[in-house]
Amino acid sequence: MPEQISVAVIGAGMAGRSHAAAYRMAGSVSGPGLPPIRLAAIADVNLALAQDGARRYGYEKALPSWEAVAEDPSIDAVSIVVGNALHRPIAEALVGAGKHVLCEKPLAGSMADARAMVELERQGRAVTAIGYCYRRSPAIAAIRDHIRAGELGELTTLHARYWCDYACDPRGPLSWRFKGGMGSGALGDIGAHIIDQGEYLCGPIASVAGGSLSIQIPKRPLPLGAVIGHNAAPVSSEMGEVENEDTATFTARFRSGLAATFSVSRTAFGEPNGLGFDVYGTSGRASFDFHRPAEYTIDDAQPEARTRGVRRVIVGPQMPYFAGGYPMEAPGVGIGNQEQFTYQARAFLDQIAGVADPLPRNASFADGLRSMEIIEAVVRSARDGAAVAVPAPPA
Ligand SMILES: NC(=O)c1ccc[n+]([C@@H]2O[C@H](COP(=O)([O-])OP(=O)(O)OC[C@H]3O[C@@H](n4cnc5c(N)ncnc54)[C@H](O)[C@@H]3O)[C@@H](O)[C@H]2O)c1
Repeated sequence: MPEQISVAVIGAGMAGRSHAAAYRMAGSVSGPGLPPIRLAAIADVNLALAQDGARRYGYEKALPSWEAVAEDPSIDAVSIVVGNALHRPIAEALVGAGKHVLCEKPLAGSMADARAMVELERQGRAVTAIGYCYRRSPAIAAIRDHIRAGELGELTTLHARYWCDYACDPRGPLSWRFKGGMGSGALGDIGAHIIDQGEYLCGPIASVAGGSLSIQIPKRPLPLGAVIGHNAAPVSSEMGEVENEDTATFTARFRSGLAATFSVSRTAFGEPNGLGFDVYGTSGRASFDFHRPAEYTIDDAQPEARTRGVRRVIVGPQMPYFAGGYPMEAPGVGIGNQEQFTYQARAFLDQIAGVADPLPRNASFADGLRSMEIIEAVVRSARDGAAVAVPAPPA
C-alpha cells in the first residue's frame, strides 16, 4: 500500500468543487485502511477559480492548466472535471504520466474518443473510473438491494426521468454544454446518469425505440467571460446556435423483458435536479426522487392485505453507505449530493490503495462508453423511426 496518495482536481467549476471537497472527506467515511490523502493541487485555466478552490478546500496549490498536473510527478490520482471534449486528451496524458483517473460523465465528447478511452483502460496501467455519483445514493442502493433480493417480484416496468430547469432562461449563456451534435445535450449531460441508473437497478438494456429529441431554445447569447456550471453570466448581444437537444424521450426494452420509459430535459421549469424513477414488479414497487434524497417509498406484499400500501422509508444507518460512514450515524439526519461525491472519491482511493474492505468499485470507462452507446442508439431511433438494438454490456 502507498504511504500516501496525492490527489489533484482538474476543473474548479461546478462539479470540480464537489470533487475537491470529496477528497477532503474521503478518509473519514467507511472503514480504516486508507493511507493519508495529500490534497496536492486544483487546476483550471481560470486561475482565480482554481485559487479559490484551493483556498476553500485546503489544497496546497492552484495550477493554471491540466498539463501542469500531468507534469507533476508527486501527484498520484486525478479527477477530470472539465467540459466533455477535453476528457480524452487529459485522460491519455495523465495515464501516460502514471496517474490514476476518475473522469466525469459523459465519458467523452465523441464515440471515437470514448472508445479510445476504453482502449486506454484495457491496457491496465492505472485505476480508471467514471463519475456516476448517483450509484452512491443510500436510498437508490437500498432499492437495488430490494430488487436483487426479489422483494418486488419479477420486474415489469421502469419509468425513469431526469428533469432539470437549468436551461429555461433564454438569456442563459451559450456555454460548452450547448455545443456538440444531437445526443450531447440533455441526454449526454443528465441522461447519462439516469440511463446508468436504469441499468444499475434493472440490468442491461437490449434495445431502445421511439427516440424524440427537441431543442426548445435554438439560440442563446454568447458569454462575455467565464461561465461556471449552469450559472447566469454577462452575455453579448450576439447570439449563437444551440447544437444539441434540450429535451429527449425514449422507450427501452431490457434483456429481462422489462419495458421502460426514459425522459430527460434541461428546460423543465421548477425541477432544479429532478432525477427520479418508479420501478414496478409483480409483487412490489419502489420510487425515488432526488429532491427528497434522504427517503424512498416502497410498496410490497407485506404486512397483510388490509393494511398494505406505500411506505416511506427514511435513510439511516441500516442502508448502504450511511452505515459506518456518515458522521452522525443516526436515522433521519438527511443526506445529499456531496456525500455521493465523497463515497465515490473514497471508492476510487480504496481501489488505488488496495484497501482490504473497499466500498463497491466505481463504474469504469467501459460503463461510460456503454451509456454513450445507448444514447447513440436513441439518436438513431429518433432519426430512423425504428427500434435500435444495443450491444451487450461489458463483461
Ligand atoms: N456527476 C455530476 O453530478 C456532475 C454535475 C455537473 C457536471 N458534471 C460533469 O463535470 C464536468 C464539468 O462540468 P461543470 O459543470 O463542472 O463545468 P464548468 O463549466 O462549471 O467547469 C469546467 C471548468 O473547466 C475549466 N477548464 C476549461 N478548459 C480547461 C483546461 N484546458 N484546463 C483546465 N481547466 C479548464 C473551466 O475554466 C471551468 O472552470 C462535465 O463533464 C460535466 O458533465 C458532473
